[in-house]
Amino acid sequence: MPNQFSASAPGKVNLHLGVGEARADGYHDLVTVFQAVDQREVVRLVVDDAAASEGESVVSGITTHWMLEGELSEQIDTPSNLAWRAVDAAVEAHRAAFTPVALPKVRIEVDKAIFVAGGMAGGSADAAASLVAASAYLEHYSGTALDQDKLTELAKNLGADVPFALMGGNALGTGRGDDLVEMLGRGEFWWVFVNPRVAINTGEAFGVLDDLRHDNPALVPHLDTTTVAQALTSSDPEVLAGALHNDLQAAALEMRPQLTELIRAGEAEALAAIVSGSGPTVAVLCRDSDHAHEVRDALAGRFSGYELIAAHGPAAGATLL
Ligand code: C5P
Repeated sequence: MPNQFSASAPGKVNLHLGVGEARADGYHDLVTVFQAVDQREVVRLVVDDAAASEGESVVSGITTHWMLEGELSEQIDTPSNLAWRAVDAAVEAHRAAFTPVALPKVRIEVDKAIFVAGGMAGGSADAAASLVAASAYLEHYSGTALDQDKLTELAKNLGADVPFALMGGNALGTGRGDDLVEMLGRGEFWWVFVNPRVAINTGEAFGVLDDLRHDNPALVPHLDTTTVAQALTSSDPEVLAGALHNDLQAAALEMRPQLTELIRAGEAEALAAIVSGSGPTVAVLCRDSDHAHEVRDALAGRFSGYELIAAHGPAAGATLL
């Protein structure tokens, strides 16, 4: 009798992030290329003995284990947490589709290995891993799991980056960034991710970009991904270095000016440096594993108090453990 159901999910970097106009629903149309990286969140649903009555959340709470030194503290143990919402959404969808069964309460444990509010979709990875773990939990108690299409639909409702955390690999994202098509890629790419520990709210970053564009017509949307698609198939990090682009970088630099120095240092030490997603994490592209570890140590010496990790992509999407 298993007493826990576990899954992991990867962080991501946007190799290309083109941001179109703001839409009526508050979102922006994106043309983005994601790469999943092997820095993974782990979510465990640990079964409590007490059975949950129908209609109420099966989740009794969330415990977080920080895998990184000096993480930003954040209110995590709340029903608004994406991992909690993902488990509730999976249970609700299962109750709607199949004959409801008695389910025991679970406590969610999250091993956080991805920076919080860093632009690497750590919260989205928690949600994706929670969906996969919740599907195994539901299958164990009812005999029926949620299929992949249902998980993808639930993922979209939880957030724009959640479907990619479920899928992994390399992918082109359009719409809100959640209409995904797998992209061909060859070889692996090594990165150093540096987080200056000054969180950026994703919604605010999009708003700042809108404001900047209002005053500066040169900040046009970059919606062509041909160069980065070719670079991905080249398996050559030098080629990929020349193809990286992020429209949201201008907003991140406006909000956190200290990122300029970090990007310059990353460019001096390695092949390229770019803001990851909405930031503030800076992704530094390296030649290979050895180079990534050298670059990590060099940047750690220069930027004390910042968090640094070396990781490679592409990596698998959310996986049952
Ligand atoms: O979907 P998610 O909750 O991650 O998005 C956070 C915020 O980022 C949204 O509320 C929206 O303001 C902004 N966003 C956007 N366009 C996207 C994705 C996110 O404007 N494609």
